[in-house]
Order: sequence, then structure tokens, then C-alpha cells
Amino acid sequence: MQKKINRRSWLQLGMGATVGTLYTSIFGCTTPAAEEAASACEPTVNQTMGPFHPNKDQQDKDFDLTSFNGSDAQPQGEPIYVRGKVTDENCNPIPGAVVMLWQANTHGKYSHEYDHSSAEYDPNFQGWGQVTTNEKGEYGFKTIKPGAYPLSEGSADYRTPHIHFKFSRRGYHELITQLYFEGEELNETDVLLGGLNAEEKAQVVRPKTTGAEDIEDGASLVTFDVVLENAKDNSTENRLKELSGKYSVDIEPHEMKEELSQFYGGQREELTLTITTENGLLYAEMPIQPKCEVKPIGDNVYAYLAFEADIHFQQDDNGKVTGLQLKRYYEFPTLSAEKIN
Ligand SMILES: [Fe+2]
Repeated sequence: MQKKINRRSWLQLGMGATVGTLYTSIFGCTTPAAEEAASACEPTVNQTMGPFHPNKDQQDKDFDLTSFNGSDAQPQGEPIYVRGKVTDENCNPIPGAVVMLWQANTHGKYSHEYDHSSAEYDPNFQGWGQVTTNEKGEYGFKTIKPGAYPLSEGSADYRTPHIHFKFSRRGYHELITQLYFEGEELNETDVLLGGLNAEEKAQVVRPKTTGAEDIEDGASLVTFDVVLENAKDNSTENRLKELSGKYSVDIEPHEMKEELSQFYGGQREELTLTITTENGLLYAEMPIQPKCEVKPIGDNVYAYLAFEADIHFQQDDNGKVTGLQLKRYYEFPTLSAEKIN
């Protein structure tokens, strides 16, 4: 079931690929009632966050990525509208969900410090935006169709055009995923899309249509509805607090140090993983990866989907949390971390 992906492309993808099948098998509903609900509105498949998630705030982060800082100058590329509805597993709309979108420009370049490619930067493209769903659970962005980009400079392997999304709302698990465009030639060879099964592909590969009434000539519309999964963690608040803290990840034995430095820039002598708790859920954050949710999948085990690893917390005989192991997906070695406070 697990897709082979080499170490190099793993790093170039931002330490991740898809966990679609794995995710749905872990989080699939188990009770008959839930199964019924899930078949009505199946939670949308997670995809890796990638390395270019916005890590710096900017003044202009509204729904219109084709107008940056009030300028009339248009970004290069084909304008598209992305609109959708966010619902729960019973197909009820979720108002007030925060929707974040980030993507490459038409040349395949992200407005991000970690994008070292020589592709052209477009100063008129906003790069990312954030909106909140209305009372019907609806959201919308105006942007441009992103360009494809090679996995590394000069590589023959390309990421097909895609848009990254993060959906969050209290009471639901965070959804980090990617939207693709139907009919793209590169869809056939994309390493992340290739890891999804047919149902998962149907959720995230969407047609681009023209002729909608409220859309100007030359622009097209992509509809992207998603389903969030109800948040559940049976751990007590006290236990979540015990798990919270800083963990020092041992990166020496796995050449992680060198590769992290090479990819993310600067010298990285250490990697600290910070675990926090909020509203009954657990979150993880590293200097190379923004804060995102980790989901409970067993006793002391949490799925860290953005990093494509499971976190196994370790405790001593008295139940005191002493460290954790990051058991990464695919063939990557497990990383150990000691709890430092
Ligand atoms: Fe990307």
C-alpha cells in the first residue's frame, strides 16, 4: 500500500507525500451509524502540507490573490475562481471555518523563503490568502492557475499544478489537502496524486469550467467542496498537558542535519518539536513546519500527518512522559526525541 519514494524527493517535497489511503483507513468510521454518515459525506483526504506553507504574516491576505497590496497590476497567468462548501460528516454546513490557500504563481514559484528555484517571481501575485466560511459553510477565492514545478532544479519529475489548502474549525480535525485540475497531463505522473485511490482522487481532482454568470470572460471556476471530520480525543485535559512540552529530536544518526540545512537553509544543529494542547486537541510545531494538529490513533500514539509520521509518546513506570518516537511513513528511519521540558 505504501508508495516508494526516495529520500531526495521526500525532502524536496518538504518531507512528505500523501497518506491518503493510510489516513482513511486509520480514521474511517467504525460504528454503523457513522459509516452511514461517512458514506453520505466522506471526510476529504489529507495531503502533505509541503515546505511552502506561509510562515510570515502579510498585510494583504484577503480572498483576491490577483490584487496585491491594493495594486491594479495583475499577476501573470490564467485567472480562476475557487469556490466551495465546507461540511461535516453528516453533510451539514460548517460556518466560521478558517480556510487558508497557498500556491505557486503561474511560473511554478512560491512567494516563500524556502523556494530556492530559479523560476520567475511575480510581484503582483499575493501568494496566499485566508477567509472564513459564511453561514452556509461557503468560501471563495480569486487567484490564478498555478504553474507546474520540478521536484528540484532541472529535474524531469514535476509536481502537477495544485493548490494547497488548510481548513480549521474548533470541534473538527484540521484538514490539510491539495486541489488538482482535471485533464492535466502531469496528473498522470504526479508523485503525490499517484498515491491516492480512485475515491480520493475524485475528492481533490476538479474540473475547471467557464461561463458562470458572475465570472468575467477569460476566467474560469473550480468548485472544491470538502468534508471535515469531527474531532475526537479521549485523553483527559491533564494527560494532554503531560504530553505537551518541548522535545529535542536526535537528528545525528540519520543525515537529517545535513539535509535539513541543505533544504531549509542555514545550519541546523538541532531540531526541536513543540507539543501543545488547545481545546482538547494536541498540536505539533517545529522550526521547519508551522503548528498543526496531531490526531489520536491509539494509546499514546498520534498521527502527525503534516510531517508524515506517527508520534509514539514514551513514559516511565510512573507514567511520566519522557520522550517520543517519530515513526515516519514510507521507508524513512524512526527519529527519537527526548522531552526537555
Ligand atoms: Fe506545492
